[in-house]
Amino acid sequence: MHSDNSMDRPAIEQRLRETRADRLADLWQRADETRRREVGDEVHLRGLVEISNHCTRRCRYCGIHADNRTLPRYRMRAEEILEAAQRAAEFKYGTVVLQAGEDPALDRPFIANVIRRLKEDLGLAVTLSLGERNEGDLAAWREAGADRYLLRFETSRRDLFERIHPRGPHSVDRFEQLAVLRRLGYETGSGVMIGIPGQTFADLARSLARFAELDLDMIGVGPFIAHPDTDLGRGAADCPPAPESDQVPPSERMAYKVLALTRLVRPDANIPSTTAISTLDEHGRELGLERGANVIMPNLTPMRYRRLYEIYPAKSCLAEDPATFDAELKRRLRAIGRVPGRGRGDRVR
Ligand code: 5AD
Repeated sequence: MHSDNSMDRPAIEQRLRETRADRLADLWQRADETRRREVGDEVHLRGLVEISNHCTRRCRYCGIHADNRTLPRYRMRAEEILEAAQRAAEFKYGTVVLQAGEDPALDRPFIANVIRRLKEDLGLAVTLSLGERNEGDLAAWREAGADRYLLRFETSRRDLFERIHPRGPHSVDRFEQLAVLRRLGYETGSGVMIGIPGQTFADLARSLARFAELDLDMIGVGPFIAHPDTDLGRGAADCPPAPESDQVPPSERMAYKVLALTRLVRPDANIPSTTAISTLDEHGRELGLERGANVIMPNLTPMRYRRLYEIYPAKSCLAEDPATFDAELKRRLRAIGRVPGRGRGDRVR
């Protein structure tokens, strides 16, 4: 499967700036046709368990950063994680995703043990989303049976990345980590936020070109949503917005454009319709699926922890318990002519 080679960086940038309704309708349609041809009508469901909101990093966009002292912290015990993951098996999701802040207490043996039990007891594919980690950890977890790893590079522009994401004691270059993951045999996912203050159309076009160069298996994108307890939310980070005509807006329309273009540059990737998009738009989950996406990540975090994993405000998943969400989701999928995926939902090559 080739990426669309008419899509060099200037062409991508031009489409990111598109405002004409008829041309946007064309873009949605091309993305939807490409999605259907390359990955079909199945929507793979990945049960998300947010296992810890402890974090040592000071990311200026993220609500669970280390300096947020008002946020009560939690870390799930292995038994709690397994119990939450059990829902994934019950609802026939092929995959469980373990996500957390960068929490050193989620150490190598703890995570390895959880992975082994998820594989042995529940037979689920396991995706990790645990931030920047060293090669030893990643190798041990792969050995324990982890299948996939998600690590967004957030923006392809290094100076902007470093401004919003100050280095920590265990920082790893994200592009290097993506290469390590691939070498270890993980399916590898990455992605960006859309409309970070200071992000220009040229930057975002470069990020999309990067998706193709990296041959990513999974790509997650979503709008930047300002969180009041962060530097960026307070307008306090020295991230001067780009000149007005160059600054990417963190809007729902822009998110759909990026989603559709992601499908065109990486036709066979697994691409979620993300929670951040449905936070801006109540029809976002379905619209995302009709504009390039083929994955949904239902939240299986126990209700008592949900509001504590507030990486951005008003996350759309706060209210619904897993069973209610699951029933409603499957109804909505059928309503748009799509079917829940069977099996693990690996990348189709
Ligand atoms: N707005 C939107 N997305 C965010 N993320 C973190 N904070 C925010 C925010 N304020 C995204 C990042 C991260 C993913 C887990 O959540 O892209 O990689």
